Amino acid sequence: MRQTLIALAMLLAMQSSSMAQEVGDAARGATLATTVCAQCHAVRPGELRSPDPMAPNFSSIATTLGMTDRALRVWLQSSHPTMPNYVLSPDESNNVIAYILSLKSER
Ligand code: HEC
Repeated sequence: MRQTLIALAMLLAMQSSSMAQEVGDAARGATLATTVCAQCHAVRPGELRSPDPMAPNFSSIATTLGMTDRALRVWLQSSHPTMPNYVLSPDESNNVIAYILSLKSER
């Protein structure tokens, strides 16, 4: 019962925050980033050199002037030139966007 209540409370909290601004779960996004995106991008705060020199590091993406969840969503939904076959689910995009934007405040 207690667990159900906790789950319900979390669900409600998630719903209200997603209604506010459609942000995802940054912790899950971090996992996705380190498993998928890290092949090419430096994904951790303060990590500057990307494995693929053409791929900008996530901290600098986050601090790019005018970078918003909307801009990131557009980028992630259009095809990524170097990874054409990898398509993120809406949840995955939200989470990874939340993670990237969280790097903004960590600097
Ligand atoms: C196979 C290598 C590779 C992988 C994997 C990869 N990227 Fe990229 N990404 C690149 C390269 C190279 C660029 C720069 C290309 C360009 O600007 O045209 C880029 C650019 C970007 C940009 C645009 C940055 C800007 O300033 O416009 C974003 C956002 C981005 N990647 C997010 C991600 C996310 C999120 C993931 C994981 C889900 C990911 N990338 C996985 C290679 C990769």
